[in-house]
Amino acid sequence: MKLRVNNKEYSVEVANNPSLLEVLRDKLDLTGTKYGCGEGACGACKVLVNGIPTPSCITPVTSVSGKKVITIEGLAENGELHPVQKVFLEEDVFQCSYCAPGMVITAAALLKKQPDASTQDLIDGLNGNICRCCTYPAIINALKKIIQ
Ligand code: FES
Repeated sequence: MKLRVNNKEYSVEVANNPSLLEVLRDKLDLTGTKYGCGEGACGACKVLVNGIPTPSCITPVTSVSGKKVITIEGLAENGELHPVQKVFLEEDVFQCSYCAPGMVITAAALLKKQPDASTQDLIDGLNGNICRCCTYPAIINALKKIIQ
């Protein structure tokens, strides 16, 4: 099947309709997207599918045929990190960083939809992304800096 990922066309052989996450990591070598729970509950594997943060671990790869997939590797544009990537780095928000790709993807989509998101909007919007180091306050405070 053909896949459009990070504005590149790929042609991949897929048997038994694996998850989008498996194809990204194992066939396209895009390992920035992480495997966490495998059940759609932790957010580590989120990618953008037509702009919507989507848990790739429970998304059959065939369901994204003809759609535009953006992974953490494709979020920076023209050599410039996305503002969410920049502020998370500047504010040094993460500890282990395993949740970072999914957190960045979700926050980027949230701020695109709601550029003036309130603190509660940020908390609600990131509700599906779990950080085992519990750096939530640092994440929310960093995002507030790019909203002001
Ligand atoms: Fe997909 Fe947790 S690994 S949501």
